[in-house]
Amino acid sequence: MAVDSNASTWSQRFDQGLNPAIERFNASIGFDIALLQHDLDGSVAHARMLGRCGVIGSDEADAIIAGLEAIRSEAAAGSFNPGLEDEDVHFAVERRLIALIGPVGKKLHTGRSRNDQVGTDVRLWLRQQIDAIDGDLQRFERALLDQAERHADTLIPGYTHLQRAQPLCLAHHLLAYVEMAERDRARLADVRRRVNTCPLGAAALAGTPVPIDRRATAAELGFEQIYANSLDAVSDRDFAVEFMAAASLIQVHLSRLSEEVILWASEEFGFVSLSDRCATGSSLMPQKKNPDVPELVRGKSGRVFGHLMGLLTMIKGLPLAYNKDFQEDKEALFDGVRTVRDCLEAMAILFEEGLEFRPQRLEQAVAGDYSNATDVADYLVARGVPFREAYQLVGGLIKTAAAEGVLLLDLPLERWQQLHPAFAADVFAAIAPRQVVAARRSEGGTGFAQVRQQLQQMRERLGRGAQAP
Ligand code: ARG
Repeated sequence: MAVDSNASTWSQRFDQGLNPAIERFNASIGFDIALLQHDLDGSVAHARMLGRCGVIGSDEADAIIAGLEAIRSEAAAGSFNPGLEDEDVHFAVERRLIALIGPVGKKLHTGRSRNDQVGTDVRLWLRQQIDAIDGDLQRFERALLDQAERHADTLIPGYTHLQRAQPLCLAHHLLAYVEMAERDRARLADVRRRVNTCPLGAAALAGTPVPIDRRATAAELGFEQIYANSLDAVSDRDFAVEFMAAASLIQVHLSRLSEEVILWASEEFGFVSLSDRCATGSSLMPQKKNPDVPELVRGKSGRVFGHLMGLLTMIKGLPLAYNKDFQEDKEALFDGVRTVRDCLEAMAILFEEGLEFRPQRLEQAVAGDYSNATDVADYLVARGVPFREAYQLVGGLIKTAAAEGVLLLDLPLERWQQLHPAFAADVFAAIAPRQVVAARRSEGGTGFAQVRQQLQQMRERLGRGAQAP
């Protein structure tokens, strides 16, 4: 029987090529071409190691490395364009190598499998992306910090249950998100250590009789350690799950902030105005200015959480060791990384130039409610009244003031003294919003002095840094 020319990828065991639809279904080249540089790096390190270990001649290793670098140049020039028949980036590189340098190229895959190769490539790629995301997070944090520093004296209503609770220093509110972003960075740094573990040399699943030096390739590629178990090396995708979990939390944080910005930009709140550079209009209603950026960030969070669930589900039933299901990890990681990076950039720009807080509106909001009620109770507590008793008295006071449609500060002193003889004229100063904020001196509280200290510490930690254009 004539051998189909498409069968040439595989050993002579195959007589026929793939059904074209199956070829398309099976191929990953359409997306794993993104791994090209890392595939080349991994192959260069592998070839060098094979040469050093005497598995291939050093001249052969040199020829292979030169061929791999030629492919890198072709890719840079746009002339390396693999097709479906190449199946994946690993085959595409190997085929091109053989075409470029001849039969010696056939020695590259000695002591290696695509299983440990793809694991190496994905880890190298993800490690680089984690470093980029760390930079993105820092830019976002600096944008928040710049706003926070501008608003170290601005007040904003604080909410619980989305009901006015107690007034806050606006910088304190923004710093809460910087803290979240710092935890995001710490989580990524932790994930990075496990991503930075080298599977190369595990071969298909069992290791190899070829006398390779796993530690040499790992060191050349900048890995911190190697997998201790070859089966685990080729079938571990924990790192992808961990990354996506960390990415999901970044999105959770961005999404919560987005939700706040959307509320703040509404007529009802009016706490921020959006600049033309980061808002869009309506095709129908000429008066509208829409907060598309935070809405999209909030909306895109779903895809990252979806990738997390997708990865967990993809892995959960797989027997050891490699299974083709793993090919599915790449599109999830690629899209997850792109989404998080896009969202971080958009939110950084939003806080750099896309919104302005409206201090007067904020001041009015803070002065126009009963969010100083706790401080009336605290005033009595400071004068010996048990807290629960003070709490109940103030509740009554609020009830009558609300019924009369006045604020606590509008009630004359006699009314206060009727309620409790401990009240004196200084109660008015004690419950003015600015004083209410200033009084919260407890560590981590919203008192201005506390917040200034936190601003300073965060600035020291983050530095000013070059802000992206
Ligand atoms: N394209 C494959 C992937 O992404 C490469 C590894 C293929 N290994 C195999 N034994 N078929 O996972």
